[in-house]
Amino acid sequence: MATKLQPAVIAIFGATGDLAHRKLIPALYEMSAANQLPTNTSILGLGRKTDITDDEFRSQVRKSIRDFVGSDSEELGHWCEKCIHYFGMGDSGPEDFEKLNEKITAIERTFDLPGNRIFYLATPPQAFGPTIESLGEAGLNSSEGYTRLVIEKPFGHDLKSAEALNDLIHKHFREDQIYRIDHYLGKETVQNLLAFRFGNALFESVWNREKIEKVEILVAEELGVEQRANYYEKSGALRDMVQNHLTQLLTLTAMEIPTAFKAGHIRYEKVKVLNAILPIHDEDIVEGQYTEGEIGGEGVRGYKEEDGVKKDSKTPTFVSLCLRIENWRWSGVPFYLTTGKRLKERRSEIVVTFRRPPVTIFKPEEKNRVHPNVLVIALQPNEGFRVSFEVKKPGSEIAVKTEWMQFSYADSFGPLPDAYHTLLYDILEGDQTLFVSADETLASWRLYTPVLHSHHTLYPYPAGSWGPKEAQKLKG
Ligand code: BG6
Repeated sequence: MATKLQPAVIAIFGATGDLAHRKLIPALYEMSAANQLPTNTSILGLGRKTDITDDEFRSQVRKSIRDFVGSDSEELGHWCEKCIHYFGMGDSGPEDFEKLNEKITAIERTFDLPGNRIFYLATPPQAFGPTIESLGEAGLNSSEGYTRLVIEKPFGHDLKSAEALNDLIHKHFREDQIYRIDHYLGKETVQNLLAFRFGNALFESVWNREKIEKVEILVAEELGVEQRANYYEKSGALRDMVQNHLTQLLTLTAMEIPTAFKAGHIRYEKVKVLNAILPIHDEDIVEGQYTEGEIGGEGVRGYKEEDGVKKDSKTPTFVSLCLRIENWRWSGVPFYLTTGKRLKERRSEIVVTFRRPPVTIFKPEEKNRVHPNVLVIALQPNEGFRVSFEVKKPGSEIAVKTEWMQFSYADSFGPLPDAYHTLLYDILEGDQTLFVSADETLASWRLYTPVLHSHHTLYPYPAGSWGPKEAQKLKG
Protein backbone atom coordinates (compact mmCIF):
# COMPACT_ATOMS: atom_id res chain seq x y z
CA MET A 1 0.00 0.00 0.00
CA ALA A 2 1.38 3.41 -0.93
CA THR A 3 2.05 5.83 1.88
CA LYS A 4 -0.22 8.78 2.60
CA LEU A 5 2.74 10.95 3.52
CA GLN A 6 3.56 13.99 1.43
CA PRO A 7 6.78 14.02 -0.61
CA ALA A 8 9.65 16.19 0.53
CA VAL A 9 13.24 17.09 -0.21
CA ILE A 10 15.44 15.51 2.45
CA ALA A 11 18.69 17.46 2.53
CA ILE A 12 21.39 15.67 4.49
CA PHE A 13 24.35 17.71 5.74
CA GLY A 14 27.33 15.38 6.20
CA ALA A 15 26.05 13.10 3.44
CA THR A 16 29.44 11.55 2.74
CA GLY A 17 29.92 10.67 6.43
CA ASP A 18 29.50 7.48 8.37
CA LEU A 19 26.02 8.07 9.81
CA ALA A 20 24.55 8.88 6.40
CA HIS A 21 26.09 5.86 4.75
CA ARG A 22 25.61 3.29 7.46
CA LYS A 23 22.17 4.33 8.68
CA LEU A 24 20.29 7.09 6.89
CA ILE A 25 20.64 6.12 3.24
CA PRO A 26 19.99 2.41 3.90
CA ALA A 27 16.93 3.27 6.00
CA LEU A 28 15.57 5.61 3.30
CA TYR A 29 16.08 2.95 0.68
CA GLU A 30 14.32 0.34 2.80
CA MET A 31 11.42 2.74 3.26
CA SER A 32 11.26 3.28 -0.47
CA ALA A 33 11.34 -0.47 -1.13
CA ALA A 34 8.49 -0.88 1.38
CA ASN A 35 6.46 1.86 -0.37
CA GLN A 36 6.73 4.03 2.72
CA LEU A 37 8.58 6.85 1.03
CA PRO A 38 6.23 9.17 -0.85
CA THR A 39 6.75 9.11 -4.62
CA ASN A 40 9.22 11.75 -5.81
CA THR A 41 10.73 12.26 -2.38
CA SER A 42 14.23 13.46 -3.19
CA ILE A 43 17.36 12.97 -1.17
CA LEU A 44 19.89 15.70 -1.52
CA GLY A 45 23.33 14.84 -0.17
CA LEU A 46 25.28 17.85 1.07
CA GLY A 47 29.01 17.79 1.66
CA ARG A 48 31.96 20.10 1.69
CA LYS A 49 33.43 18.79 -1.57
CA THR A 50 32.28 20.63 -4.67
CA ASP A 51 33.87 18.26 -7.18
CA ILE A 52 31.57 15.28 -6.50
CA THR A 53 29.00 14.81 -9.25
CA ASP A 54 25.46 13.50 -8.80
CA ASP A 55 26.56 10.26 -10.45
CA GLU A 56 29.57 9.82 -8.17
CA PHE A 57 27.38 10.34 -5.13
CA ARG A 58 24.84 7.87 -6.53
CA SER A 59 27.53 5.18 -6.77
CA GLN A 60 28.47 5.86 -3.12
CA VAL A 61 24.81 5.52 -2.18
CA ARG A 62 24.55 2.28 -4.13
CA LYS A 63 27.59 0.93 -2.34
CA SER A 64 26.20 1.73 1.11
CA ILE A 65 22.94 0.02 0.22
CA ARG A 66 24.89 -3.00 -1.01
CA ASP A 67 27.00 -3.03 2.17
CA PHE A 68 24.33 -2.32 4.76
CA VAL A 69 21.08 -3.58 3.25
CA GLY A 70 22.65 -6.31 1.19
CA SER A 71 20.70 -5.53 -1.96
CA ASP A 72 21.53 -4.31 -5.43
CA SER A 73 19.15 -4.35 -8.35
CA GLU A 74 18.07 -2.52 -11.45
CA GLU A 75 15.34 -0.91 -9.37
CA LEU A 76 17.89 0.45 -6.98
CA GLY A 77 19.72 1.95 -9.94
CA HIS A 78 16.49 3.67 -11.09
CA TRP A 79 15.79 4.89 -7.57
CA CYS A 80 19.26 6.42 -7.29
CA GLU A 81 18.99 7.98 -10.74
CA LYS A 82 15.70 9.64 -9.93
CA CYS A 83 15.82 10.40 -6.22
CA ILE A 84 19.45 10.94 -5.23
CA HIS A 85 21.22 14.25 -5.80
CA TYR A 86 24.34 15.92 -4.50
CA PHE A 87 25.34 19.49 -3.80
CA GLY A 88 28.81 20.66 -2.68
CA MET A 89 28.62 23.33 0.03
CA GLY A 90 32.28 24.43 -0.23
CA ASP A 91 33.10 26.52 2.81
CA SER A 92 29.40 27.00 3.61
CA GLY A 93 29.33 30.76 3.15
CA PRO A 94 26.07 32.74 2.69
CA GLU A 95 26.31 32.38 -1.10
CA ASP A 96 26.56 28.58 -0.75
CA PHE A 97 23.29 28.56 1.20
CA GLU A 98 21.68 30.74 -1.46
CA LYS A 99 22.78 28.25 -4.11
CA LEU A 100 21.47 25.44 -1.94
CA ASN A 101 18.09 27.15 -1.93
CA GLU A 102 18.22 27.35 -5.73
CA LYS A 103 19.17 23.68 -5.98
CA ILE A 104 16.27 22.62 -3.75
CA THR A 105 13.85 24.84 -5.66
CA ALA A 106 15.02 23.29 -8.93
CA ILE A 107 14.43 19.77 -7.60
CA GLU A 108 11.00 20.82 -6.36
CA ARG A 109 10.11 22.18 -9.78
CA THR A 110 11.37 19.13 -11.65
CA PHE A 111 9.36 16.74 -9.50
CA ASP A 112 6.42 19.02 -8.86
CA LEU A 113 6.96 18.86 -5.10
CA PRO A 114 4.82 20.84 -2.63
CA GLY A 115 7.79 22.56 -0.95
CA ASN A 116 8.28 20.29 2.07
CA ARG A 117 11.86 20.38 3.27
CA ILE A 118 13.74 18.35 5.83
CA PHE A 119 17.26 19.42 6.83
CA TYR A 120 19.11 16.58 8.52
CA LEU A 121 22.30 17.53 10.38
CA ALA A 122 24.39 14.35 10.20
CA THR A 123 27.52 16.36 10.92
CA PRO A 124 29.97 16.62 13.82
CA PRO A 125 28.43 18.72 16.62
CA GLN A 126 30.76 21.68 15.97
CA ALA A 127 28.92 22.23 12.70
CA PHE A 128 25.42 22.40 14.28
CA GLY A 129 25.58 26.06 15.32
CA PRO A 130 26.98 27.55 12.09
CA THR A 131 24.68 25.40 9.90
CA ILE A 132 21.53 26.33 11.80
CA GLU A 133 22.54 30.00 11.79
CA SER A 134 23.19 29.94 8.04
CA LEU A 135 19.93 28.11 7.28
CA GLY A 136 18.05 30.75 9.24
CA GLU A 137 19.87 33.68 7.67
CA ALA A 138 19.30 32.28 4.18
CA GLY A 139 15.57 32.06 4.89
CA LEU A 140 15.70 28.28 4.63
CA ASN A 141 13.80 27.91 7.90
CA SER A 142 10.45 28.15 6.12
CA SER A 143 9.08 27.16 2.76
CA GLU A 144 5.81 26.69 0.93
CA GLY A 145 5.22 23.36 2.64
CA TYR A 146 6.70 22.35 5.97
CA THR A 147 10.35 22.80 6.97
CA ARG A 148 11.81 20.44 9.58
CA LEU A 149 15.23 20.38 11.20
CA VAL A 150 16.69 17.08 12.34
CA ILE A 151 19.60 17.08 14.72
CA GLU A 152 21.52 14.12 16.12
CA LYS A 153 22.89 13.91 19.63
CA PRO A 154 24.96 15.33 21.32
CA PHE A 155 22.70 18.27 22.13
CA GLY A 156 25.42 20.26 23.88
CA HIS A 157 28.07 18.93 26.23
CA ASP A 158 26.73 20.44 29.46
CA LEU A 159 23.85 22.61 30.64
CA LYS A 160 25.32 25.88 29.42
CA SER A 161 26.14 24.65 25.92
CA ALA A 162 22.75 22.91 25.63
CA GLU A 163 21.02 26.17 26.58
CA ALA A 164 23.07 28.04 24.00
CA LEU A 165 22.26 25.46 21.31
CA ASN A 166 18.54 25.55 22.10
CA ASP A 167 18.58 29.36 22.05
CA LEU A 168 20.27 29.37 18.68
CA ILE A 169 17.85 26.80 17.26
CA HIS A 170 14.87 28.75 18.59
CA LYS A 171 16.19 31.95 17.07
CA HIS A 172 15.54 30.43 13.65
CA PHE A 173 13.14 27.50 14.08
CA ARG A 174 10.03 26.80 16.15
CA GLU A 175 10.14 23.85 18.53
CA ASP A 176 7.50 22.06 16.47
CA GLN A 177 9.93 22.06 13.52
CA ILE A 178 12.73 20.37 15.46
CA TYR A 179 13.40 16.64 15.61
CA ARG A 180 16.23 15.86 18.08
CA ILE A 181 17.23 12.26 17.51
CA ASP A 182 18.19 9.88 20.24
CA HIS A 183 18.25 6.69 18.20
CA TYR A 184 17.32 4.59 21.26
CA LEU A 185 13.82 6.02 21.00
CA GLY A 186 13.48 4.48 17.55
CA LYS A 187 14.18 0.97 18.81
CA GLU A 188 11.04 -1.15 18.88
CA THR A 189 11.91 -2.55 22.29
CA VAL A 190 12.22 0.94 23.75
CA GLN A 191 8.89 2.03 22.30
CA ASN A 192 7.42 -1.16 23.60
CA LEU A 193 8.10 0.07 27.13
CA LEU A 194 5.02 2.26 26.74
CA ALA A 195 2.84 -0.51 25.35
CA PHE A 196 4.13 -2.90 27.98
CA ARG A 197 3.42 -0.53 30.83
CA PHE A 198 0.20 1.10 29.74
CA GLY A 199 -1.35 -1.78 27.84
CA ASN A 200 -1.07 -4.31 30.63
CA ALA A 201 -2.96 -3.63 33.82
CA LEU A 202 -1.09 -6.56 35.32
CA PHE A 203 2.21 -4.69 35.42
CA GLU A 204 1.03 -1.12 35.82
CA SER A 205 -0.80 -1.97 39.03
CA VAL A 206 2.44 -3.09 40.69
CA TRP A 207 4.68 -0.44 39.12
CA ASN A 208 5.47 1.50 42.27
CA ARG A 209 7.52 1.74 45.45
CA GLU A 210 5.21 -0.58 47.35
CA LYS A 211 5.89 -3.50 45.06
CA ILE A 212 9.25 -2.74 43.46
CA GLU A 213 12.54 -2.95 45.31
CA LYS A 214 14.93 -1.68 42.63
CA VAL A 215 15.30 -1.01 38.92
CA GLU A 216 18.55 -1.69 37.06
CA ILE A 217 19.19 -0.31 33.58
CA LEU A 218 22.18 -1.76 31.77
CA VAL A 219 23.62 -0.94 28.36
CA ALA A 220 26.75 -3.04 27.98
CA GLU A 221 28.86 -2.93 24.84
CA GLU A 222 31.59 -5.25 23.63
CA LEU A 223 32.92 -2.61 21.27
CA GLY A 224 35.70 -0.29 22.34
CA VAL A 225 36.18 3.30 21.27
CA GLU A 226 36.85 2.16 17.64
CA GLN A 227 37.88 5.07 15.36
CA ARG A 228 36.11 7.70 17.44
CA ALA A 229 38.76 8.68 19.98
CA ASN A 230 38.68 12.27 18.84
CA TYR A 231 35.03 12.56 19.85
CA TYR A 232 35.07 10.12 22.77
CA GLU A 233 38.03 11.70 24.56
CA LYS A 234 35.92 14.83 25.03
CA SER A 235 32.79 12.91 25.80
CA GLY A 236 33.26 9.81 27.97
CA ALA A 237 30.56 7.37 29.02
CA LEU A 238 28.33 9.78 30.93
CA ARG A 239 27.89 12.22 28.05
CA ASP A 240 27.97 9.56 25.34
CA MET A 241 25.42 7.15 26.79
CA VAL A 242 23.93 8.11 30.16
CA GLN A 243 22.74 11.67 29.60
CA ASN A 244 20.79 10.50 26.56
CA HIS A 245 20.16 6.79 25.88
CA LEU A 246 20.05 5.46 29.44
CA THR A 247 18.11 8.48 30.64
CA GLN A 248 15.52 7.86 27.94
CA LEU A 249 15.13 4.32 29.23
CA LEU A 250 14.83 5.63 32.76
CA THR A 251 12.14 8.20 31.97
CA LEU A 252 10.06 5.75 29.93
CA THR A 253 10.27 3.24 32.77
CA ALA A 254 9.41 5.71 35.49
CA MET A 255 7.01 8.21 33.91
CA GLU A 256 3.36 8.59 34.87
CA ILE A 257 0.62 7.56 32.47
CA PRO A 258 0.27 10.32 29.87
CA THR A 259 -3.18 11.74 29.25
CA ALA A 260 -2.93 10.78 25.58
CA PHE A 261 -0.50 8.95 23.32
CA LYS A 262 0.66 12.23 21.85
CA ALA A 263 4.08 13.86 21.69
CA GLY A 264 3.27 16.76 24.02
CA HIS A 265 1.76 14.56 26.73
CA ILE A 266 4.52 11.97 26.68
CA ARG A 267 7.34 14.50 26.62
CA TYR A 268 5.73 16.38 29.51
CA GLU A 269 5.64 13.26 31.67
CA LYS A 270 9.27 12.45 30.88
CA VAL A 271 10.43 15.89 31.94
CA LYS A 272 8.50 15.52 35.21
CA VAL A 273 10.55 12.41 36.03
CA LEU A 274 13.81 14.21 35.36
CA ASN A 275 12.79 17.12 37.54
CA ALA A 276 11.99 14.75 40.41
CA ILE A 277 15.44 13.12 40.50
CA LEU A 278 17.50 14.09 43.54
CA PRO A 279 20.97 15.60 42.98
CA ILE A 280 23.61 12.92 42.40
CA HIS A 281 26.24 12.67 45.16
CA ASP A 282 29.82 11.48 44.72
CA GLU A 283 29.06 8.24 46.54
CA ASP A 284 26.29 7.49 44.01
CA ILE A 285 28.66 7.10 41.08
CA VAL A 286 31.52 4.81 40.04
CA GLU A 287 33.56 5.44 36.91
CA GLY A 288 36.02 3.16 35.17
CA GLN A 289 38.30 2.82 32.17
CA TYR A 290 39.11 -0.41 30.34
CA THR A 291 42.58 -1.87 30.32
CA GLU A 292 43.78 -4.63 28.02
CA GLY A 293 41.88 -7.88 28.16
CA GLU A 294 40.02 -10.40 26.08
CA ILE A 295 36.78 -10.15 24.13
CA GLY A 296 35.36 -13.25 22.48
CA GLY A 297 38.64 -15.10 23.01
CA GLU A 298 40.75 -12.39 21.36
CA GLY A 299 43.17 -10.07 23.07
CA VAL A 300 42.23 -6.37 22.86
CA ARG A 301 44.05 -3.17 23.76
CA GLY A 302 43.38 -1.01 26.76
CA TYR A 303 41.68 2.35 26.25
CA LYS A 304 44.91 4.34 26.69
CA GLU A 305 46.54 2.29 23.93
CA GLU A 306 43.73 2.94 21.42
CA ASP A 307 44.52 5.12 18.39
CA GLY A 308 44.08 8.78 19.13
CA VAL A 309 43.73 8.38 22.91
CA LYS A 310 46.11 10.27 25.21
CA LYS A 311 48.44 8.00 27.16
CA ASP A 312 47.34 9.64 30.40
CA SER A 313 43.67 9.89 29.43
CA LYS A 314 41.21 10.26 32.31
CA THR A 315 38.16 9.62 30.13
CA PRO A 316 35.72 7.15 31.71
CA THR A 317 34.58 4.32 29.46
CA PHE A 318 32.33 2.88 32.18
CA VAL A 319 29.90 4.50 34.54
CA SER A 320 27.46 3.16 37.05
CA LEU A 321 25.24 5.41 39.13
CA CYS A 322 22.34 5.28 41.52
CA LEU A 323 19.48 7.71 40.99
CA ARG A 324 16.60 8.46 43.35
CA ILE A 325 13.31 9.73 41.97
CA GLU A 326 11.61 11.63 44.74
CA ASN A 327 7.94 11.36 43.88
CA TRP A 328 4.97 9.39 45.23
CA ARG A 329 5.45 6.50 42.88
CA TRP A 330 9.18 5.97 43.32
CA SER A 331 10.35 7.44 46.63
CA GLY A 332 12.88 5.05 48.17
CA VAL A 333 13.37 2.88 45.05
CA PRO A 334 16.95 3.03 43.70
CA PHE A 335 17.42 3.19 39.93
CA TYR A 336 20.86 1.90 38.94
CA LEU A 337 22.16 2.99 35.53
CA THR A 338 25.22 1.20 34.17
CA THR A 339 26.98 1.40 30.84
CA GLY A 340 30.44 0.61 29.58
CA LYS A 341 32.55 -0.20 26.57
CA ARG A 342 34.54 -3.41 26.23
CA LEU A 343 32.33 -5.26 28.69
CA LYS A 344 31.85 -9.00 28.74
CA GLU A 345 29.01 -9.05 26.24
CA ARG A 346 26.68 -6.77 24.31
CA ARG A 347 23.54 -6.62 26.39
CA SER A 348 20.96 -3.91 27.05
CA GLU A 349 18.21 -4.61 29.51
CA ILE A 350 15.99 -3.21 32.22
CA VAL A 351 15.74 -5.44 35.25
CA VAL A 352 12.89 -4.75 37.67
CA THR A 353 13.16 -6.58 40.98
CA PHE A 354 9.93 -6.84 42.95
CA ARG A 355 9.77 -6.97 46.72
CA ARG A 356 9.83 -10.31 48.45
CA PRO A 357 6.60 -11.52 49.97
CA PRO A 358 6.35 -9.73 53.36
CA VAL A 359 6.16 -12.99 55.30
CA THR A 360 7.08 -16.45 54.24
CA ILE A 361 5.02 -19.49 54.99
CA PHE A 362 7.85 -21.69 53.79
CA LYS A 363 10.63 -23.06 55.92
CA PRO A 364 13.61 -20.74 56.16
CA GLU A 365 16.21 -23.26 54.95
CA GLU A 366 18.18 -22.40 51.82
CA LYS A 367 16.25 -24.67 49.44
CA ASN A 368 12.97 -23.12 50.45
CA ARG A 369 13.99 -19.49 50.34
CA VAL A 370 11.62 -17.51 48.17
CA HIS A 371 13.28 -15.27 45.60
CA PRO A 372 11.71 -11.99 44.58
CA ASN A 373 9.93 -11.93 41.22
CA VAL A 374 12.11 -10.35 38.56
CA LEU A 375 11.06 -8.83 35.25
CA VAL A 376 13.81 -8.55 32.62
CA ILE A 377 13.02 -6.39 29.62
CA ALA A 378 15.65 -7.37 27.04
CA LEU A 379 16.26 -4.43 24.71
CA GLN A 380 19.03 -6.01 22.63
CA PRO A 381 19.98 -8.62 21.61
CA ASN A 382 17.36 -11.42 22.05
CA GLU A 383 14.68 -8.74 22.28
CA GLY A 384 11.72 -9.60 24.44
CA PHE A 385 11.04 -10.01 28.13
CA ARG A 386 10.91 -12.65 30.81
CA VAL A 387 9.37 -12.81 34.27
CA SER A 388 10.45 -15.09 37.06
CA PHE A 389 8.02 -16.98 39.24
CA GLU A 390 8.48 -19.18 42.23
CA VAL A 391 7.00 -22.61 41.67
CA LYS A 392 6.76 -25.67 43.85
CA LYS A 393 8.98 -28.53 42.86
CA PRO A 394 6.92 -31.68 42.44
CA GLY A 395 7.21 -34.06 45.35
CA SER A 396 6.02 -34.49 48.89
CA GLU A 397 8.49 -31.93 50.23
CA ILE A 398 7.62 -28.22 49.89
CA ALA A 399 10.55 -26.89 47.91
CA VAL A 400 10.36 -23.77 45.77
CA LYS A 401 12.21 -23.13 42.52
CA THR A 402 12.52 -20.10 40.23
CA GLU A 403 11.13 -20.53 36.69
CA TRP A 404 10.78 -18.03 33.83
CA MET A 405 7.97 -17.07 31.50
CA GLN A 406 9.27 -15.56 28.29
CA PHE A 407 8.29 -13.54 25.26
CA SER A 408 10.61 -13.21 22.26
CA TYR A 409 10.14 -10.64 19.52
CA ALA A 410 11.96 -12.78 16.98
CA ASP A 411 9.69 -15.76 17.62
CA SER A 412 6.51 -13.71 17.40
CA PHE A 413 7.32 -11.08 14.81
CA GLY A 414 10.60 -11.92 13.03
CA PRO A 415 13.32 -9.29 12.58
CA LEU A 416 12.72 -5.79 13.93
CA PRO A 417 13.03 -2.62 11.82
CA ASP A 418 16.08 -0.45 12.28
CA ALA A 419 15.60 2.54 14.58
CA TYR A 420 16.37 5.02 11.79
CA HIS A 421 13.66 3.56 9.61
CA THR A 422 11.09 4.30 12.32
CA LEU A 423 12.48 7.74 13.09
CA LEU A 424 12.69 8.89 9.47
CA TYR A 425 9.11 7.78 8.91
CA ASP A 426 7.98 9.81 11.93
CA ILE A 427 9.86 12.89 10.70
CA LEU A 428 8.04 12.68 7.36
CA GLU A 429 4.80 12.17 9.21
CA GLY A 430 5.45 15.09 11.55
CA ASP A 431 5.14 13.04 14.72
CA GLN A 432 7.52 14.27 17.45
CA THR A 433 6.68 11.60 20.04
CA LEU A 434 9.98 9.75 19.62
CA PHE A 435 12.13 12.88 19.61
CA VAL A 436 13.70 14.76 22.47
CA SER A 437 12.21 18.12 23.41
CA ALA A 438 14.20 21.21 24.35
CA ASP A 439 12.94 20.98 27.94
CA GLU A 440 14.04 17.39 28.19
CA THR A 441 17.60 18.09 27.05
CA LEU A 442 17.89 20.88 29.60
CA ALA A 443 16.37 18.88 32.46
CA SER A 444 18.78 16.06 31.74
CA TRP A 445 21.84 18.30 31.56
CA ARG A 446 20.71 20.05 34.76
CA LEU A 447 20.93 16.69 36.49
CA TYR A 448 24.26 15.51 35.09
CA THR A 449 26.29 18.71 34.69
CA PRO A 450 27.30 18.90 38.39
CA VAL A 451 28.54 15.29 38.13
CA LEU A 452 30.70 16.19 35.13
CA HIS A 453 32.29 18.98 37.08
CA SER A 454 33.14 16.95 40.18
CA HIS A 455 36.12 14.66 40.50
CA HIS A 456 35.74 10.88 40.74
CA THR A 457 38.24 8.07 41.09
CA LEU A 458 38.70 6.26 37.79
CA TYR A 459 38.83 2.52 38.41
CA PRO A 460 40.54 0.32 35.82
CA TYR A 461 38.74 -2.80 34.60
CA PRO A 462 40.00 -5.43 32.18
CA ALA A 463 38.32 -5.52 28.78
CA GLY A 464 35.92 -8.46 28.74
CA SER A 465 34.86 -8.07 32.38
CA TRP A 466 31.67 -6.54 33.77
CA GLY A 467 33.47 -3.34 34.80
CA PRO A 468 35.24 -2.34 38.01
CA LYS A 469 34.20 -4.36 41.05
CA GLU A 470 33.75 -1.10 42.96
CA ALA A 471 30.54 -0.64 40.96
CA GLN A 472 29.00 -3.55 42.85
CA LYS A 473 29.37 -1.59 46.09
CA LEU A 474 26.91 1.01 44.82
CA LYS A 475 24.20 -1.61 45.17
CA GLY A 476 25.12 -2.21 48.81
C1 BG6 B 1 25.93 6.00 20.28
C2 BG6 B 1 27.20 6.19 21.05
O1 BG6 B 1 25.05 7.05 20.52
O2 BG6 B 1 25.31 4.78 20.69
C3 BG6 B 1 28.14 5.00 20.82
O3 BG6 B 1 27.83 7.39 20.63
C4 BG6 B 1 27.44 3.71 21.15
O4 BG6 B 1 29.32 5.15 21.60
C5 BG6 B 1 26.10 3.62 20.44
O5 BG6 B 1 28.28 2.65 20.75
C6 BG6 B 1 25.30 2.42 20.93
O6 BG6 B 1 24.17 2.25 20.14
P1 BG6 B 1 23.51 0.82 19.92
O7 BG6 B 1 22.31 1.09 19.09
O8 BG6 B 1 24.55 -0.01 19.22
O9 BG6 B 1 23.21 0.29 21.28
